[in-house]
Amino acid sequence: DLKGPLSVWKYRALLPVSREPISLKEGGTPVYHIRRIGEEIGIKDAHVKHEGMNPTGSFKDRGMTVGVTKALELGMTSVACASTGNTSASLAVYGARAGIPVIVLLPQGKVALGKIAQALMHGAKVLSIRGNFDDALRLVREMCIENGVYLLNSINPYRLEGQKTIGFEIVDYFGWEVPDRIILPVGNAGNITAITKGLNEMKKLGLIDRVPMMTGIQAEGSAPIVKAIKSGSENITVESKPETVATAIRIGDPVNAVKALNAIRTTGGTAETVTDEEILAAQRMLAVKEGIGVEPASAASVAGMIKLRKMGVIEKDERVVCVTTGHLLKDPETVIKMCESPIEVDATKEAIRKVLGQ
Ligand code: F0G
Repeated sequence: DLKGPLSVWKYRALLPVSREPISLKEGGTPVYHIRRIGEEIGIKDAHVKHEGMNPTGSFKDRGMTVGVTKALELGMTSVACASTGNTSASLAVYGARAGIPVIVLLPQGKVALGKIAQALMHGAKVLSIRGNFDDALRLVREMCIENGVYLLNSINPYRLEGQKTIGFEIVDYFGWEVPDRIILPVGNAGNITAITKGLNEMKKLGLIDRVPMMTGIQAEGSAPIVKAIKSGSENITVESKPETVATAIRIGDPVNAVKALNAIRTTGGTAETVTDEEILAAQRMLAVKEGIGVEPASAASVAGMIKLRKMGVIEKDERVVCVTTGHLLKDPETVIKMCESPIEVDATKEAIRKVLGQ
């Protein structure tokens, strides 16, 4: 009974809420065949699912439409989260839509400008914590329990319920044909957990016959999951000083680590690191060669695909879907630093012609 255009609420029958949703029409994000990049690296069937095309510019909206709806259903009157930026932007927006107060805790100096702008504009109480994301999450968890505030980080199961629809939409888009591999950036490890959960449910329902190889990419300076996968351990070793240009995934103690390790292992997937240089090169490549604008963390998925293809881990005839999790405009400062400045020119045709070499 799954008809109609792709969207989070198309799969309502598989989402655990009963109330009318708090929604801004999330999901239904485009899948783009990245032909030029694919040809260059030797994967014909490479795709990007651009989650930056959600209402607030990241995949977090899928989790928040379900999570904030659930908050109201449970009679909660205020909501909070810790965030590297996107979760806070999304919670601010869905809290505004629901008409309830929002508190967000951000790691000072390490949140991209567009995300802070969203949290502030939509009326959240924005606290800048002198510490990193892991510190902020520890604090908000304790304070939500003490003060009866509803926590909307990815420890909240309803957030993951919403995000599992990324997996639904991917197989739905390909006519219920399962791609070989889904690649995504991993930070707090909620998204890879959520997508795998969704696909396992589809398999149980008999809608698909297997789950793609779930492949997680982390930045080299912030890679507890990758290290655990490579060393074969059951749990991660916390990194106390995570660092990367991809501030969205600058996380040393992912709360969903154990579930994510399980998701990667049971689907025959893998995890790999990429350097900041590789992330920024992939971001630029997507932008210039395919016309797809993503933020640095999102480009980690494509950087990972390129690396894993070079290593021979990804076969040339695989159908691969990279999830690009957030929009280019989230982090304008990194872009401005990376690109050449605009060429300043006098307001005459002669001056313009000269610059253009005509
Ligand atoms: N990509 C982007 C753009 C993100 O914002 C995040 C997480 C991830 C990937 C990783 O997803 O945590 O489920 O493994 N951002 C969170 C936030 C931590 O606060 O916005 P994950």
